[in-house]
Amino acid sequence: MELNNKVIIVTGAGGGMGQVIVSQLVEQGAVVIGIDLSMDLMPTYDRFIAKEASVLDENKISEIFSDVHHEFGKIDGLVNAIGIAQSATPIEDVTLEQWNRLININATSLFITCKEAVKYMKPKRKGSIVTIASISAVRPRPGLQSYIASKGAAESFSRAMAIELASHSIRVNTIHPGPADTGMLGQFAAKDADVGAMKEEIFRQSVPLGELIQPEDIAYAVVYLLSDRAKIVTGATLHVDGGRGL
Ligand SMILES: NC(=O)c1ccc[n+]([C@@H]2O[C@H](COP(=O)([O-])OP(=O)(O)OC[C@H]3O[C@@H](n4cnc5c(N)ncnc54)[C@H](O)[C@@H]3O)[C@@H](O)[C@H]2O)c1
Repeated sequence: MELNNKVIIVTGAGGGMGQVIVSQLVEQGAVVIGIDLSMDLMPTYDRFIAKEASVLDENKISEIFSDVHHEFGKIDGLVNAIGIAQSATPIEDVTLEQWNRLININATSLFITCKEAVKYMKPKRKGSIVTIASISAVRPRPGLQSYIASKGAAESFSRAMAIELASHSIRVNTIHPGPADTGMLGQFAAKDADVGAMKEEIFRQSVPLGELIQPEDIAYAVVYLLSDRAKIVTGATLHVDGGRGL
C-alpha cells in the first residue's frame, strides 16, 4: 500500500472528488480526516474521521489540526479539495461580494489550512501538501474570471510554499483537473443554460481525449503526490485533464 499509516487531512471530503479521494487514501492504508461544510455526503470508513467546519473558520480549522496531531502524533499530508464554482457571468454583472466569496473560499482558505499543516510538518521535517486547482487557470473560458483568478492564486501560492518549505523536506504540489464529472460541473453553466447540453457540447467536447475527467483520475494523482514515490517532486503542477490544457 502506497500510504500505509500516513495521517492525511482532506478538505471538501464530502464533494464529488473529495469522496473518491478519501476512498482511495483509505484503500492505500492512510488514516484520513475529512473536513466539509456539510456532513450529508461524508463517506464512512473505519479509518476515516469526519469533521464539520468551514475552511474559512480559522479557529475551528486550527482546533481540528491540533486534535488530529494530539491523537495521532503527526500530520503527514494535506489535500485541499474544497472549492466553489462560478456561474458563467460577464464581469460587469459580477458583484464585488461574489468575487470576494470565490477568492476567499478557493484561495484564502489555502492560506489557513497550509499554515496549520506546516505548523505540524516542520518539526517532523516531512510532509506533502496537494491542492486541487483547475486547468482553467491556464486555459480560461469566458465568464469565469473570478473562479479562474482564485485558481491562479492557488497554483502560485503552492509554488511559493514549495520553495519556502523545500529546505524543511515538505513537498507542495498542484493538480489541474480538466472538466470533471461531479456536481460542480453543472454549476459553471450560465443562468438559464441547458446544463445537460453544456456538459456535452462545451465541456466534454473540449477535452482532446474525448471524455470528462472522473474523480478516480484525480484521486490516483493525489495518491501518487502524497506517496514516497513522489519524494523528489515539489512545486509541480500535474494536469489531469485529458489534454484540455494543450
Ligand atoms: N468538477 C470540475 O469540473 C472541476 C474542474 C477543475 C477543478 N475542480 C476543482 O476540484 C475541487 C473539487 O471539486 P468537486 O468537483 O469535487 O466539487 P464539489 O462541489 O462536488 O465539492 C466541493 C466540496 O467543497 C465543500 N465546500 C465548499 N465550501 C466549503 C467551505 N467553506 N468549507 C468547507 N467545505 C466547503 C462542499 O461542501 C463540497 O462538498 C475544487 O477545488 C474545484 O474547484 C473541479
